[in-house]
Amino acid sequence: MRIAIAGFGTVGQGFAEVIHKKSELLSSYGPVKIVAAFDSKSYAADENGLDPVALVKNKLATGAVGDKKMKSGIDVLGSVGYDILVEVSPTDIETGGDGLRHIEYSLKHGKDVITVNKGPLALRFRELNKLAERNNAILRFEGSVGGAMPIINLCSENLKGERVKSIRGIFNGTCNFILSRMDNGLPFEQALKEAQQLGYAESDPSYDIDGIDTACKVVILANSVFRRNVKFSDVSITGISSVSPEAIALAADQEMVIRLVGEVSDTVLEVSPRLVPKGHPLSIAGTMNTAQIMTDLAGPIVIFGKGAGRMETASAILSDLIAIMDRRR
Ligand code: HSE
Repeated sequence: MRIAIAGFGTVGQGFAEVIHKKSELLSSYGPVKIVAAFDSKSYAADENGLDPVALVKNKLATGAVGDKKMKSGIDVLGSVGYDILVEVSPTDIETGGDGLRHIEYSLKHGKDVITVNKGPLALRFRELNKLAERNNAILRFEGSVGGAMPIINLCSENLKGERVKSIRGIFNGTCNFILSRMDNGLPFEQALKEAQQLGYAESDPSYDIDGIDTACKVVILANSVFRRNVKFSDVSITGISSVSPEAIALAADQEMVIRLVGEVSDTVLEVSPRLVPKGHPLSIAGTMNTAQIMTDLAGPIVIFGKGAGRMETASAILSDLIAIMDRRR
């Protein structure tokens, strides 16, 4: 398996580290090597395989992925032989950005794709899946919702045969952190600053605060788990900037907290701040993600996990990589 990594920020670097850490496990599938890695400024490529540890060290020390200057991701992808694209460049919810171009190019050329980039999935989910099907390519995206919390594969693979009736969840660690710090009297701005320091917030934090990030995740769940055909623009979105300290205090008087909840079912597609009774699974504090999945036979299933992070998101990419290698074998 020859892997090309598009995007070499926190998640791309974490994935390279995972390739090194899990080399023994991966070698049972045959040689697994990174043949190209790039970000918006520079790239490294070697058909014989790049050293993942050296790649990360170099990026941390110099800020560059490699010594070659980037023209475009498509040029790099066109110049190396690869089997799987790992697309982890930043989300662009306006157009899908470079990430969408990388994914389309790879699928068109019959390459498998693993992505955690929410923009392309929230804008072009059905088209990308059709493109994959037509070109006998596999498209997987477990880490795009809930990071390390395995919600997509849980619903579509482990809960086969169940009818998933609805999913309600906390899918944005930044908002949950802010709201739970506000529960303790911290002002919004200060809570946001702390959340940014934790490294969970999107490069543009309004993606978190305005509910855009959660809406992308709700769209991905609607399309993948509920087999709907919806887009980002179909979601009813209210963010958390209007949640006042007074509202939080009033909620506390009623033994409630306010949380940004994403909800999806056959008919619902919504992101909004909601009153949640203290002690309810959705009342969690901090940066963790959680989801309550209602099914017809098994009843409610609750999962809880880290929604972002270097190794955590890379763990979801690793699970997709192994699933692809199992299928290809
Ligand atoms: N900004 C996101 C969050 C990162 O705060 O949860 C994971 O998508």
